[in-house]
Order: sequence, then C-alpha cells, then structure tokens
Amino acid sequence: WPTFAGDIEAILALKRERNAVVLAHNYQTPEIFHCVADIVGDSLALAHKAVTVDADIIVVAGVHFMAETAKLLNPNKTVLIPDLRAGCSLAESITANDVRLMRLRYPGVPVVTYVNTSAAVKAESDICCTSGNAKAVVESLGVARVLMLPDEYLARNVAADTDVEIIAWKGHCEVHERFTAADIRELRDAHPGVIVLAHPECPPDVVAEAEFSGSTAAMSDYVEREKPTRVVLLTECSMSDNVAVAHPDVEFVRPCNLCPHMKRINLANIRAALEQNRHEVRIDPEIAGPARRAVERMLSL
Ligand code: 13P
Ligand code: SF4
Repeated sequence: WPTFAGDIEAILALKRERNAVVLAHNYQTPEIFHCVADIVGDSLALAHKAVTVDADIIVVAGVHFMAETAKLLNPNKTVLIPDLRAGCSLAESITANDVRLMRLRYPGVPVVTYVNTSAAVKAESDICCTSGNAKAVVESLGVARVLMLPDEYLARNVAADTDVEIIAWKGHCEVHERFTAADIRELRDAHPGVIVLAHPECPPDVVAEAEFSGSTAAMSDYVEREKPTRVVLLTECSMSDNVAVAHPDVEFVRPCNLCPHMKRINLANIRAALEQNRHEVRIDPEIAGPARRAVERMLSL
C-alpha cells in the first residue's frame, strides 16, 4: 500500500486539475479498479458510459481497442492510453483487408464485429457486438446468416444459442483459449460444490460444462444475485480480485489466466499519462466515421 499511496494521491489530484476521468475495465488490478477509476465495467458498459463522460480528458485503463472505442464516441475529447503496447490477441487476428475478402466470399451477408478489433476493422463492419450483447445483435439483423468476426469461440457459443447461421473467423483470446473442460472436472473434484462461470471467449466445450456463461459484468452480476458459497470465474485473474472485495462470504477458487496486455497498465503509467498527456489516441477520420457508425448502431439497440 505505501508504494501505491503516492501514485493514487497524485492521480486523484491530476484528475481534478485536468478535468480528467479514468475508465477502467473489469480486468484492471484492484488498486486501479477500486482506488482511481471513475467508471468501471465490461466492454459494453464502458462504451455506453463513455458517451456520457463530462470531462476534457479520458484515460483508458484497459487495452487499445477500448481506448479507440472511447475516442470514436468522444471525437472532441483527449483520450489517453497509458501504454501503447496494451493490445489484444483477438484484435491482432484480423485486418480490414480480411473483412473485405470475407465480404467478397459471402456477398450480402452482414458483418458483425466483436469490439475487440481495431477501428479499421470496425469501419468495414455493419455493426459491432460485445460478449454482453452478441446474441441480441445477431438476432437484431433479421437475417438467416451472419459473419461474426473475429472470435471463433464467441461465434460458436452464440451459434449454439440461436437459429441464425453464423460464419466464424479463426481468432482466439490467448487468455480464455487456455481453459479446458478437463480443468473444470478437476476443479469440481478438488472443490466440491463449486459453481463455474465461464466467459464466452472460452472454447464451447468449456462453456457447455459451466453453470453460467456471460460477459465480465454478467459474471459479476451472477455472484451478486446468486451469492454462491464457492465460485470460480474462468477468465482473467483480476476479475475475481475485484468482485471478491464486495463478497467476503463467497469463496473464490482461483485458477485464472493473466492477460499480459491488460497488465501493461499500472498506477505509474496512469500517473505519467496524466502528467505528460500520453499516449493520445488518434483515429484517421476516414476510418473513424464508418467505425463510429458500427459502434453506435450497437449502442442504439
Ligand atoms: P467483456 O466485454 O466481457 O468485459 O470482455 C472483454 C474482454 O476483453 C474479455 O477478454
Ligand atoms: Fe484480448 Fe483476451 Fe486480453 Fe481480453 S483477455 S484483452 S480478449 S487478449
């Protein structure tokens, strides 16, 4: 704590001086999530709340696609990401040209793009989705077939729950693809009665063995609502740390996987971002227009 205290105090003062807010994803470490963030949530909540931010500067404690989404929704505000290397294996798995080629291969089939993509990929899409609304987005289009890019497992998990035919891409989240159904069976043996919650970026056989699957916010809501005695969140490690704070009576079993990209963000570089105005997110206006439309179409649902 003593090592955190100086940075926390400095960040709180800088936020006041510079009229800045910190948007933090659920995977940020507890000292960021609980001590300096103004707005927290899953990707969908962060996008919705970004629209209503009343500040000059938004610091995104999350990965690069989240900062781009915040900038798309706040073109006249300064949006900062404390470390430009905070990427995402899903966003890396597909380019704008890949989307154009998929459209040529499947003419007339609408493209639903996961928000875990670059602005350039969003700009080639009809509509975005998150893990929190993927099924609703797919079904909102009123068509028999959609392309759902780039997360193969999210696409297959949604396909298992809808009549719409889903054509997937081959991207995976490097954090969630590592969970296996065998892990769940071992967990159940070692921790009798444990309730298993799996993020929809996990492979379909993992989701099938879990009691519940949903976005990071949906997992947090599940714990709040059901108050399980013992629970395991098959997702990034900080999730359990953050949710556990409000639930001292729940036992959180913790095999988890770290997201190295989310972990690039820390108190020191959030402070440096506010002190030195770095790293400002800029999006080519030709890309920003169509990318914004895809995000706003999702938010309007
Ligand atoms: P959520 O939208 O569920 O928070 O997920 C974001 C993410 O990056 C999951 O790996
Ligand atoms: Fe990307 Fe996976 Fe990290 Fe989420 S957890 S930011 S999907 S690599």
